[in-house]
Amino acid sequence: MLMITFAWISSLASPILAPSKHLWSTVTAQGFFISALSIFWLLQQDLLLNQFFLIDNISGPLALLTCWIYPLTMLASQSKLHLEPMNRQRSYIMNSSYLQLTTLLAFTASDLMLFFIFFEASLIPTLIIITRWGAQEHRLEAGIYIALYTMAGAIPLLLWLAYSFSTYGTLISTLIPITSLPQQFNHPALFWLFCNLAFLVKLPLYSLHLWLPKAHVEAPIAGSMVLAGTLLKLGGYGILRFSPLLAPVTLNDLLLLTLLSVFGVLATAMLCLRQTDLKSLVALSSVGHMNLVVVAALINTPTSHTGALVMMIAHGLTSPAMFALVNTAYERTNSRAMFFLRGSTMILPLASAWWLLTTFANMAIPPSPNFISELLIFSSLAHWSPSIFIIVLLSLLFTTGYSLYVLWTTQRGLIPSHLSTFFPFQIREHILLALHILPLLLLIFNPEIMT
Ligand SMILES: *[C@@H]1O[C@H](CO)[C@@H](O)[C@H](O)[C@H]1NC(C)=O
Repeated sequence: MLMITFAWISSLASPILAPSKHLWSTVTAQGFFISALSIFWLLQQDLLLNQFFLIDNISGPLALLTCWIYPLTMLASQSKLHLEPMNRQRSYIMNSSYLQLTTLLAFTASDLMLFFIFFEASLIPTLIIITRWGAQEHRLEAGIYIALYTMAGAIPLLLWLAYSFSTYGTLISTLIPITSLPQQFNHPALFWLFCNLAFLVKLPLYSLHLWLPKAHVEAPIAGSMVLAGTLLKLGGYGILRFSPLLAPVTLNDLLLLTLLSVFGVLATAMLCLRQTDLKSLVALSSVGHMNLVVVAALINTPTSHTGALVMMIAHGLTSPAMFALVNTAYERTNSRAMFFLRGSTMILPLASAWWLLTTFANMAIPPSPNFISELLIFSSLAHWSPSIFIIVLLSLLFTTGYSLYVLWTTQRGLIPSHLSTFFPFQIREHILLALHILPLLLLIFNPEIMT
């Protein structure tokens, strides 16, 4: 673990040291090298625990995902950014790798206070990336939103951590005695909500999600990919990590929250049908998927927790792939509106194959890991309450609807004349998308590796 942390720190240094001609290739190669190193976390099955790091079956796959997304963001950003001044390119790369480093350390920290510190620290590079490299003037507003939401959610968590430290004398999550759960609170459900508020904001829960579409729309491509790929997963990871430490709650205690998140799944799917802006559509669809993670975490059975984890991994690969695709379209049309892409099947046929694959993965077509996760979550949910299950089934209908809507609007139709000036799909872009889809396809054959 320490080795990989050092490797990351070296990747903070390399943007300064690399010669400007080979800047992007050096950084990308280094990113792939680090993720190759991190694969050994999967091979080593039992848990690795010391004073600082904890790699078990929850944090291992997510840490690997974090390492994997970084070189992909570098692949995706280079075509737009290499037009900028050299200093700005270097500080962009440094900020992105700093962001990935804080996320990785948050996933793997064994001490809950360290987890909290890195969880919050990831906000700083996110803010810098959104406000300095965002495309429009609303980016400052987006930055204010993300900062205020995250900070407000963090206060209760900090209070609880301080309280736990004074009670248990340690904050290493596996050392906290499970038997001495805080029974003195008469409202375990409220208490659960209090402690998990920071994570519910980060995920985000429907109704606390207002910062997310804003941040996504304003962020440059690396920002969007990292937000969708790993930052949102910090919230889900936090809920899963903290759940053994809190008094067990049932869905009935938190009925309102459950209904809210189930309704969120339905509402976001319906909202997606009304979007004309591709980026905010993908952002809303991730809100929907993450609300399923909230439901799964609330159900609190081993099956549903596995479902939540698999969903985070599968979504962590699919959603950056969608953003990367949206970005390839954006670089050609300079607009996020779907309608400008009408008929692009004729001009970019291979690109439309990628659209098909990623949209299908996003709507959880059967052999994909996305499907496995939905199956696990839905079966636990149906077991708990058939009537709520019907709402989720209804949302499936809308999910299929908006997936077809995306495909139809961006691919089909007559070719308008502006499309003929498109530059062709580059090999870099094909590689970028293949590297998102390939892990998904490999996971189909070996799904147990995720859990
Ligand atoms: C992030 O970007 C800012 C602004 O360009 C820069 O001042 C800062 O040094 C960068 N941070 C890191 C860690 O590279």
